[in-house]
Amino acid sequence: MRIAIASDHAGFQEKGLLAAYLRDAGHEVADLGPDSDDRVDYPDYAQKVARAVAAGEAERGVLVCGTGIGMAIAANKVPGIRAANVTDPEFAALAREHNDANVITLSGRFVSDEQNRAIVDAFLATGFGGGRHEGRVQKIMALEGR
Ligand code: RB5
Repeated sequence: MRIAIASDHAGFQEKGLLAAYLRDAGHEVADLGPDSDDRVDYPDYAQKVARAVAAGEAERGVLVCGTGIGMAIAANKVPGIRAANVTDPEFAALAREHNDANVITLSGRFVSDEQNRAIVDAFLATGFGGGRHEGRVQKIMALEGR
């Protein structure tokens, strides 16, 4: 799968670990930065991944900041993005199955690397459930005014 990944300084180390993990698993990973743990503003990097996913350049996005919260808020401002901030693999699966999330946002400070790997695995392995969830997701997207 083509995956775009980015972080801020608080998620920088975890981003590197996850990018390597995903490449080892056979995914095509575009690391959209940053290239160091110098202090940066998370909306700048949320935007990069969100735009790549919205444009179809990546099928899924992964964003890491201190909590994952700021990344989700910022990514969800980009039309076409459904970003979910999760700290648990079951919620990652539900974000795919019920909400058709196309971006996952993670905590680099409060969640272990092992747990983040399990979250990403669940996020990538789970399909959208459709059915009763379809119309609800359409209503979410209609909120964009498109
Ligand atoms: C950076 O200190 C921190 O605010 C950021 O990584 C993130 O947690 C914001 O939601």
